[in-house]
Amino acid sequence: MKKDSSSNSARVVTLIPGDGIGPEVISAAVAVIEQTGVKIRWDEQLAGMAAFKRVGNPVPDALIKSLRQTGVALKGPLETRVGEGYRSINVYLRKTFNLYANLRPVHSFKGVHTPFRDVDLVVVRENTEDLYAGLEHQITPGVVESIKVITAKASRRIARFAFEYARREGRACVTAIHKANIMKLSDGLFLKCAREISSEFSEIRYEEQIVDAACMRLVTDPQSFDVLLLENLYGDIVSDLCAGLVGGLGVVPGANYGDKGAIFEAVHGTAPDIAGKGLANPIAAILSGAMLLEFLGHAHESRRIRLAVGDVLQSGATLTRDLGGSATTMQMTDAVIGAMHSSASSAADRA
Ligand code: NAI
Repeated sequence: MKKDSSSNSARVVTLIPGDGIGPEVISAAVAVIEQTGVKIRWDEQLAGMAAFKRVGNPVPDALIKSLRQTGVALKGPLETRVGEGYRSINVYLRKTFNLYANLRPVHSFKGVHTPFRDVDLVVVRENTEDLYAGLEHQITPGVVESIKVITAKASRRIARFAFEYARREGRACVTAIHKANIMKLSDGLFLKCAREISSEFSEIRYEEQIVDAACMRLVTDPQSFDVLLLENLYGDIVSDLCAGLVGGLGVVPGANYGDKGAIFEAVHGTAPDIAGKGLANPIAAILSGAMLLEFLGHAHESRRIRLAVGDVLQSGATLTRDLGGSATTMQMTDAVIGAMHSSASSAADRA
């Protein structure tokens, strides 16, 4: 994948609508991004079940070629069947393009009612190994083995990513979350590497917590966390838990970063229960689009989207069903676009 470089000409970005609610929320994100005036040419590609049904392959060559050329993608969720079918295409893409760092910012929004206020934490998840290495086999009928792979190289790399992110964003603390009391070798190595890297960042507090205790603390005192550093499996589970703290899967964006590119996608899946009904909350996809714009060097436009989303949620007039309202995906998208324009015109009035 090519490294990002911002310029004034239209930037080509791979667009993967995905499965289930993917096409609905991705077209919302595209509509919002287009309102910023940033010139992007979308190279739309099929993946997942949509591609499997159309061309018999969930990862068509054209998709891989596009990703290699553009180095950056906005992606909808992809269906992965439970216990059968092809392996996760998400895992495949993250490994193929070495997108080792999964970043999920989790903030409370005014207007979204949850038991918690002022949550402001970031989940940093290692994306390429752990039990997601996909090394499973049956030893004998009734006995299977699944191998957890943890390497010093990947552990140091993700720890460095978390600390560099904390430094760049002015964050105070990184908490490494683990189960090294049981998995002394694998999680022990992950912790050893995190400690080693932490010593290079003396201004950032470093702490460690066992994953079960961390979950308890997350649902009782989430404001006490800042940056969470986790292996792949714990990160996957804990990020959905964190989404629940601030209003659910409909509002939390995400990104997968490597040294040479990035794929932006919401935390949520294909939501088959509401797919095709126009009920999906587009905010997580829209905010993932804002993260994409920031990555492409358009920080101002990214912020404009985030402010508009904040305004819409705070006003509470146009919320999708998951947030207690009755708006459709399209109505909420239009509300965000409207808020972008009204805040632009009020800024112009003030000027
Ligand atoms: P899910 O995230 O699709 O749905 C869980 C619950 O959250 C459902 O009740 C759904 O309606 C709701 N939900 C999710 N996103 C929403 C949104 N934007 N607006 C309103 N409600 C929303 O998780 P589930 O059901 O476990 O997985 C379904 C499929 O998605 C599976 O095939 C799974 O493998 C895939 N998946 C894909 C991901 C990706 O491509 N990054 C991530 C997670 C799951």
